[in-house]
Formats: sequence, structure tokens, C-alpha cells
Amino acid sequence: MNGLDGIVVAETRLSEIDGAAGRLLVAGHPLEAARMRFEAVCALLWESAEPELGSARAAAFARLDDLGGALAMPHAIDALRAGMAQLSTRDEPSFLRQASAVTGAMAVLAAAWVRRAAGEPPVAPDPELPQAVDTLRMMQGKTPAPEAACALSTYLCSVSEHGMNASTFVARAVASTGAELVSAVVAGLSALEGPLHGGAPGPVLDMIDAIGIPERAEEWIERELAAGRRIMGMGHRVYRTRDPRAAVLEGALRDSGASNGERAALARVVEATAARLLAERHPDRPLEANVEFHTALLLEALGIPRGAFTAVFAVGRVAGWCAHVDEQRRSGRLIRPSSRYVGARPAA
Ligand code: COA
Repeated sequence: MNGLDGIVVAETRLSEIDGAAGRLLVAGHPLEAARMRFEAVCALLWESAEPELGSARAAAFARLDDLGGALAMPHAIDALRAGMAQLSTRDEPSFLRQASAVTGAMAVLAAAWVRRAAGEPPVAPDPELPQAVDTLRMMQGKTPAPEAACALSTYLCSVSEHGMNASTFVARAVASTGAELVSAVVAGLSALEGPLHGGAPGPVLDMIDAIGIPERAEEWIERELAAGRRIMGMGHRVYRTRDPRAAVLEGALRDSGASNGERAALARVVEATAARLLAERHPDRPLEANVEFHTALLLEALGIPRGAFTAVFAVGRVAGWCAHVDEQRRSGRLIRPSSRYVGARPAA
């Protein structure tokens, strides 16, 4: 009960997760449709025309100097949260304009943090480019290879929306009070930070580095499990199969031309060993790779620093948060569950 497992808190048209079959529908489309422009996924989720994210990126970049302090923060997600908190969409005339403003700003903030962390000046957006291409360009200071941009686009689309996950739930709870979109997005960012939600992919790479060679996987994972630690990138609250997004991201990595064969082979052994050892320990609770395992490998291959992985997740997931905020506003019902008091009472 403590984790609200299986409790339905909203009706949504945004996505459906079939945890037993390992299937995901986003706005009525199977996950395999993830190979579309990020703007097209936003349009599906926001029930709108394709948003003008290029002009939103340009508007956010124009304000970057105001956000200098935020971008100097050593953790990317702290920088995004602090930077985003300085924005306001109160004066935007429509939901579409509000959602575009925060979605464009997320890419600009994430890219500017990556540049600053590398000691490089920020790169201005090119409003004509699709969001995925420009995000990579603003991070790396050069136009990315089409295959790499396509891989990031697939990633952003794959993680754009995923049911009532923790960050979406808190974003909806904030929106249900009538709060502004930015407040809901900042709440979503805060929830995404933790390793049980969006903070796992950096630690997945730390694990693969620590294991180093396939022959060491079993011993390393056994030791972690014996110490009571969780294996990052494995297990999911809803899926009882391998997370279907894992296969999509594996395919994106293969097609990106950026895959390193030795690294990929090591990762395959780590995943298979972790799945086997977890199955031995939890025969009744399938624990297989989740989206974060293959996020780590894909973003690493694209040359994105691991400190920015959760921030890049937010660049995709913000589309879903915005859609849920809109849906919640339409429902108009305050989210206000109950608790059962188990504390002390005054003596009779
Ligand atoms: N490594 C080791 N054991 C794990 C595990 C993992 N990754 N995931 C779950 N378990 C174990 C739990 O310790 C628990 O064991 P117990 O019954 O002996 O106490 C059992 O499996 C059931 O897990 P539960 O706590 O009910 O799972 P959950 O639904 O609360 O957790 C996650 C889902 C994602 C939080 C969990 O699988 C996890 O912590 N994974 C690692 C972090 C991660 O990859 N996060 C990204 C999620 S997309």
C-alpha cells in the first residue's frame, strides 16, 4: 500500500502500459512509432499542431544570462530545477504556448549545463532545426551526424510519456491545485532526480565500468546483492517483462553507428547475468532490464556526459508532464488522498 501500487488515480488518454505483456501505447500509438520527430510526439500528446519549439528555444536562450547562477550548479538536475524555476508561463496565451516554452527551455538549459560543465560557452539554438538535432548541436557545438540525431530523437520520443510514474504523479498533483505549469514541471524534475526513477542511468555506467570485463560480472553482481544493494537499470514497478523501451533504445544504438562493440558485448553480459541472479533470488518477481539500462548505453555512445543523463531524460519527459497537466486541468479535481493515522494520541 505504501507505494500506491496498482491504485488508479486518473483516467488518461496519454499512454497505456501493459506490464504483463511488456507493451506501451503512447497517445494510441505503439512504442515502435517512436521513430518520429519529437515535435510530432508533442503534437500527439498535446492534441495540437506541431509546436514551435525552435522559437521557444531562442526565447529561453535569450534569458540564459539571468540563469548563470543556476547553470553553475554541479548537478545537472539541480541546474535544470533552479533554471526552470526562474521561468514563468503565466503570460502565455494558451496551453500550447506554455508547454512549448518549458519544453524548449528544458533543451536549452540541459545543453548549456553540459557546455558549462565542459568549460565551454553555450551554443545558441538554431530555431529551424528539430528539437532533437538542435539539442545535440547545442551540447556538442557542431551539427550532429544524422544517425546520431535520429538516435537522440528516438530516445526523446521513447521516454516522452509513461503512465503514472512518480514525476508525472507529482506534476499532476501540483497542477490539480491550480498552480502554474512551471511549478508542476519543477515538481516533476524534483521527482526525476532520484535513482529509483530517473537517476539510474549514470550509476548503470558506473556499474559497467566497475565490472570492466565480462568474466567479472557474476562475482560483482553477487556481491552487490549479498550486500543488499539494488542493481541499477533492473526491475520495474509495472513491467513483469523486459521494459519494451529497452529494445527500442538498443535498436537506436545499433542504427546510430556510434555503438562500441566491446562495450555492447560487456553490457549484454552484465544485463543477462543480473537478470539471471535476480531471477534466482526472486523467482516469483520478474526483474529484468528497464529503460535506464539502455538509456545509459545510448547516451554514452552519443557522447553525452553521464552527469547529464537525467537532464536529457527531462528533455523528453517534459512533453508528458505538460500533457498530464493539461489533462488534469480539464478534470478540475484537486488530488488530495488520505492517510491513516498511526501516531500517538493524548491520554484519555
Ligand atoms: N536490484 C536488486 N533487487 C531488486 C531490484 C534491483 N534492481 N529491483 C527490485 N528488487 C527486489 C527488491 O529489493 C524486493 O526484494 P524483497 O522482496 O526481498 O524486499 C523485490 O525485488 C521486489 O521489489 P519492489 O521493491 O517491490 O520493487 P518496486 O516496484 O518498488 O521497485 C524499482 C521498482 C524500479 C524502484 C526497483 O526495481 C529498483 O530499485 N530498480 C533499480 C533502480 C532503477 O533501475 N531505477 C529506474 C527505474 S525505470
